[in-house]
Amino acid sequence: MRGETLFKNPEVFDPEYVPEVFLHRDSQLRQLAFNLKPALMGSSPISCVCLGPPATGKTTAVKYVFRQLEQLEECGNCATAYVNCLFTVSKHQMFARLFERIFGFEPPTNAPFSKLYEVLFKRLVSEGKPLAVALDDANTLETRQLNEIVRLFLKAHEVVEGVKVGVFLITTDPELLARHEFAFVGEVVSEVLFPPYSREELRSILVVRAEAGFFDGVLSGEALEAVTDAAYEVKDLRYGIALLRLAGIEAEKRASRKIEVEDVESAREKSKKALVEKVVKVLSREEKILLRLIYRQSGVGAGNLYREFRKHVRVGYTKFNEVLRRLETLRIVDVVSVCERGVSRRVVGRYDPMIVLSALSSS
Ligand SMILES: Nc1ncnc2c1ncn2[C@@H]1O[C@H](COP(=O)(O)OP(=O)(O)OP(=O)(O)O)[C@@H](O)[C@H]1O
Ligand SMILES: [Mg+2]
Repeated sequence: MRGETLFKNPEVFDPEYVPEVFLHRDSQLRQLAFNLKPALMGSSPISCVCLGPPATGKTTAVKYVFRQLEQLEECGNCATAYVNCLFTVSKHQMFARLFERIFGFEPPTNAPFSKLYEVLFKRLVSEGKPLAVALDDANTLETRQLNEIVRLFLKAHEVVEGVKVGVFLITTDPELLARHEFAFVGEVVSEVLFPPYSREELRSILVVRAEAGFFDGVLSGEALEAVTDAAYEVKDLRYGIALLRLAGIEAEKRASRKIEVEDVESAREKSKKALVEKVVKVLSREEKILLRLIYRQSGVGAGNLYREFRKHVRVGYTKFNEVLRRLETLRIVDVVSVCERGVSRRVVGRYDPMIVLSALSSS
């Protein structure tokens, strides 16, 4: 098997890959296309908020319609720009990115913001192009900052006459629109909802991805079901896609021509291990102590746990609860309410104790 591979196109499993076939999102694509339609006639795109839990295809859908529009754009009708707010720390940086996207080169580093802003929109007006701008992961900006940026787009026509802009915000936060509605200065903002995928939907997407990424017949039926179950359990398609890739690597290690359930299982174990190690790395000393105690006696009552914890760290119950809550938020332990004599909460580990205790000792 040396030199042989199961992967026909490994890049198909990369996070930034835009799939050729985009299943189960017809209605969202139609809504997005509808919002862009005015731009084809020289008018402003209709602003919208794309809302849904992680890995429900929001980024992909917007990139997909923008790409389709650009292909129509030979007739030079509309400019599109995609910016991820996670990597943008200031409005200056955001407009510098747009400048680069529209002019094809970086703006001079000392260009003041107002100049950048004006030059950018004047250019769009002179070319007669409306702009559709997508601000992805919009909830990662502070409320005030995002409000300001949305206004800078939607009020651009007050600075440069004739500007036509529509803003597409992408977010996982259902409260975002309520916080920002006023920034849209009276515009109608439509909401495009991305609900979680059902098990069947996840399965069909994973099938297409596996067909694009692996050679024919490489993924066994049982392995496919195992990946689908794993993705459905955590309601995360992205995890499913990552698992396909890892299972492929595991099968290659065994020099097997097929990916079987055992490869999916080892891939799951390895990904769990990697995840636990990542979480443990960011914990404080107190958090690590508490985590070790929880994993030594999973299911322990909160009161007993506190008494144990106090032997190592001299803190009060409030601080103890804070530490416990953080471990719960990081989803490495669960706190379960129970109705037993003398015990109202039990703390249980979410992972195999071996994995967590070994991550703790090597951290
Ligand atoms: N309907 C679909 N068909 C094929 N692939 C999909 C579909 N939906 C999502 N994907 C794939 O799932 C992964 C996650 O999708 P995407 O990045 O678009 O999610 P998202 O909603 O933007 O998530 P987040 O909120 O975490 O940013 C990507 O690899 C994408 O290619
Ligand atoms: Mg996204």
